[in-house]
Amino acid sequence: MITREDCEDLDRKDPLAHLRERFELPEGVIYLDGNSLGPPLRGVRERVNQVLDEWSQDLIAGWWDREWVDLPLRVGRRLEAILGAEAGSVICTDSTSVNLYKAVGAACILVEGDILTDRGNFPTCLYVLESVAARWGRQLLVVDPEQLEDAIHPGIGVVAATQVDYRSGRRHLLEAITRRAHLHQALMVWDLSHSAGVMEIGLGAEEVDLAVGCGYKYLNGGPGAPAYIYVSPRWQDRISNPIQGWFGHARPFDFSPQFVPASGIERMRVGTPDVISMAALERSLQIWEEVDLAAIRAKSESLVGLFIDLVAQELSGRVEVLTPLDPARRGSQVSLVLDEAGRLISDLAEVGVIADFRTPNVARFGLAPFYITHTDVFEAVAAISKLV
Ligand SMILES: Cc1ncc(COP(=O)(O)O)c(C=O)c1O
Repeated sequence: MITREDCEDLDRKDPLAHLRERFELPEGVIYLDGNSLGPPLRGVRERVNQVLDEWSQDLIAGWWDREWVDLPLRVGRRLEAILGAEAGSVICTDSTSVNLYKAVGAACILVEGDILTDRGNFPTCLYVLESVAARWGRQLLVVDPEQLEDAIHPGIGVVAATQVDYRSGRRHLLEAITRRAHLHQALMVWDLSHSAGVMEIGLGAEEVDLAVGCGYKYLNGGPGAPAYIYVSPRWQDRISNPIQGWFGHARPFDFSPQFVPASGIERMRVGTPDVISMAALERSLQIWEEVDLAAIRAKSESLVGLFIDLVAQELSGRVEVLTPLDPARRGSQVSLVLDEAGRLISDLAEVGVIADFRTPNVARFGLAPFYITHTDVFEAVAAISKLV
């Protein structure tokens, strides 16, 4: 029997407990939706105000004097540490949807063959892949998530998958799938939107080819925060960005009518960076400098394991746990299946537990390790138990 005292005890021993204070969260709210939109960190407000001051004082000169023009690379440096990526391999730019188009399109320019993905992928990814397949005359093969690895065979040119499923929290084995893609000469493109920041990823060590991901979920960059794209140093000089824009040009300020791609990761840029949002994301990423990813993942596993154990204790037979029970196969969320999932999520909001609903019957609980406590998990499951 797990008690509230047991959870309080886990919180006392939590090496990340002091980080909760760094977030601006409303009193009395248990926020289990940081996998949709992370909350603001203290310091972001000041950073955004600073950029507004720079803008009003320096006007156009801010691009150089305040180094706004370098923000995409500076944020990229911070993301490299979080993603386990090589120096100079990540740039902050565009949205995830646009970056996915660029990444998979660039892969299609490099290699022949069909595009493979799975049905668990986020809808925007499926839509983007469909448009890439049509543009480059490839077939898009969509299989069940469990079949993705085995479906990689000769004839597949690009495998595009999301590491952690937004709906169920199921985690693909990045290492094994990337290895199999390479065995068949396919390029591997990962969407890291639901994994970046809460687990070790090791893009460099696993020899991933390309990756993309969101800035506004566990990375807490703010609503509509810019996204990022990773290109392995192996490909950087051979890759073409299918959206040629002036910021991806070798010398954008020559205003030349001929496109000449920038060297390295900068060729994946397209247009003018969104400075205010990017500055907010830059400030938000600072917190990762203080903690290592293994400790973050350990806390995440502890919260997810506790949530699932409490569901078994309090809600047995009343809900189904959709999230895999094996810690190696899941991210930092728990998803429950029940007929009245939509009503449950609205009722939970009334008592200060914020989570979300995914059609038709999934209640989704994001467990962000920086600001969620074991006691929060206890309270949340107790609230669910009263309402189901
Ligand atoms: C896996 C995944 N990819 C992409 C997106 C959306 O990207 P965008 O920022 O382009 O809307 C989401 C949004 O939730 C997502 O879950």
